[in-house]
Amino acid sequence: MKAILLKEYGSPNLLEIGEVAKPIPKDNEVLVRIHSASINDWDWGLVRGKPFVIRLFFGLIKPKITIPGADISGKIEAVGAGVNSFNIGDEIYCDLSECGSGGFAEYVCVPENQLSKKPSNMSHNDASALPHAGLLALQGLVEKGKVKPGQSVLINGAGGGVGTLGIQILKPYGVKVTGVDSDEKLDLMKSLGFDSVIGYKKSDFTATGETYDLILDTKSNRSVFKYARSLKKTGRYITVGGSMYRLVEIALLGPLISLFTRKKLSVLIHKPNRGLDRMTELVEMGQIKPVVDGPYGFDEIPGLIQYLGEGKHLGKIVVELIR
Ligand SMILES: NC(=O)c1ccc[n+]([C@@H]2O[C@H](COP(=O)([O-])OP(=O)(O)OC[C@H]3O[C@@H](n4cnc5c(N)ncnc54)[C@H](OP(=O)(O)O)[C@@H]3O)[C@@H](O)[C@H]2O)c1
Repeated sequence: MKAILLKEYGSPNLLEIGEVAKPIPKDNEVLVRIHSASINDWDWGLVRGKPFVIRLFFGLIKPKITIPGADISGKIEAVGAGVNSFNIGDEIYCDLSECGSGGFAEYVCVPENQLSKKPSNMSHNDASALPHAGLLALQGLVEKGKVKPGQSVLINGAGGGVGTLGIQILKPYGVKVTGVDSDEKLDLMKSLGFDSVIGYKKSDFTATGETYDLILDTKSNRSVFKYARSLKKTGRYITVGGSMYRLVEIALLGPLISLFTRKKLSVLIHKPNRGLDRMTELVEMGQIKPVVDGPYGFDEIPGLIQYLGEGKHLGKIVVELIR
């Protein structure tokens, strides 16, 4: 089968397009014919081996993962002897980031406990855009953020995958949402329903004096004290990503700030595929429709990972493997 091969850390242009053997599912796995895949910051990090913590888990010098790609949507072509909940022909979607990646290929084997049935009213292209970023947004805003009607919410890095899905998760709560991103993305954000938008290159949202009940950050790069000052008295700040230094600072000092105030500041540890059935329900209720950049072709994947790393994308970059 055709696959994108990761042989060394460095940059996306070191990725190779090659042929490898079609995988065979173990007893608890299914074999998926991948229809569509989407690209995540996760892939950008894995391909470069940056931040360094990635190497601690996925190979210090040489990557242990040989085929990158986390988000997929496709059809089951074979099932292992112990698989109970899925059958040949089922259309599924999932995030492979906790089970070896491998989404940038024609086929992948996936443990059945990582899968959900694809929403019936959605194409494979759209479905592949949801698992990773959609669940970061759902876990951050609803599970950990405990968003409530009437609150004021800010999403930092709002024009990317998490923000463009996060706004759609938030809308039914009747909250007022501010989005922060680069100027080129502000029109898209307004069209998705952000009540106000801020261009981060011109304005620092932590310096405006405005305070929020809930902040979801995809790009933490300021001191934890600045974020604490931007929260209302009982506000919550949740970060899903950013500079490693700032993430460690928030993880260490966030609990200390909570000892002296009623504010909560924490780092979200993503749990891949947890809540994916809930995401399916939201899609089937007509609440969620990803913003898709693409679909692009398989051979474009290395260039697209670079494109994501440079922040040129809008919403989610999707690759169609079966055209
Ligand atoms: N917590 C976990 O366990 C976990 C697991 C997986 C992934 N993650 C993290 O989750 C995040 C994924 O977010 P995503 O999928 O939405 O990424 P994304 O699609 O790359 O979106 C991020 C957005 O932030 C914007 N941005 C860049 N610098 C910014 C700044 N200083 N201030 C405000 N906005 C800025 C980018 O636009 P421009 O580049 O045009 O400026 C881009 O639109 C990543 O940080 C990733 O590392 C966390």
